[in-house]
Amino acid sequence: MSEEKKEVKGVSRRTFISGTVAGLVVGAAAAYGATQLAVPKPPPAPAKEPIKGKYISLTVNGKPTTLWVDARWTLANTLRNQLGLRGTTKGCDYGECGCCNVIVDGRAVPSCMVLAIDADGKTVETIEGLAKGGKLSPLQEAMVKHRAFQCGFCAPGFIMTAKALLDKKPRPTEDEIREALSGNICRCTGYHRIVESILIATGQKPPLERISSGAIP
Ligand code: FES
Ligand code: FES
Repeated sequence: MSEEKKEVKGVSRRTFISGTVAGLVVGAAAAYGATQLAVPKPPPAPAKEPIKGKYISLTVNGKPTTLWVDARWTLANTLRNQLGLRGTTKGCDYGECGCCNVIVDGRAVPSCMVLAIDADGKTVETIEGLAKGGKLSPLQEAMVKHRAFQCGFCAPGFIMTAKALLDKKPRPTEDEIREALSGNICRCTGYHRIVESILIATGQKPPLERISSGAIP
């Protein structure tokens, strides 16, 4: 038999053997996979019914209140649309501007980012709760007297944020005021007067250079 023929014959044998082995391996893997697939899976857990809404109880500006809320409603919309407290304004509706800030359990929070159902059992303070007997609070009076705001759209959020600060620290420094208000945006850019009005409301003097420049009349 010629060398060429032997080679052809040898290759054919090798090809045959390796093809057979590969076939067996693939067949075994397929059989193993089939066995795996054959194992019965546990039945899926029954889908939970999403909560559609519920009754919540909260104290708003000192008044205990119970109302039904849809699970998707924000606290901002609930205050405005269900309780008629439209002093809480909405600027961005996604937690960026601070316009809608109210005080929940002592903390200023953007009410557009709080679900009403999560306010169940909490204490909520809004801008409507500040004036007593038709008289503005000292903080509001200082803001009005020193013309802290221009269009006033951001005012409720700034005032409630400032109130939360003053409730904890009655005489904050200018830096502390600015830090507390850092999440509030005023499109009319009246920041200096807002800060200085808060200093004045707490019996402190704003920086002299700004008074002499006419920032505070
Ligand atoms: S409206 Fe809520 S943070 Fe802007
Ligand atoms: S006074 Fe106009 S947005 Fe602040």
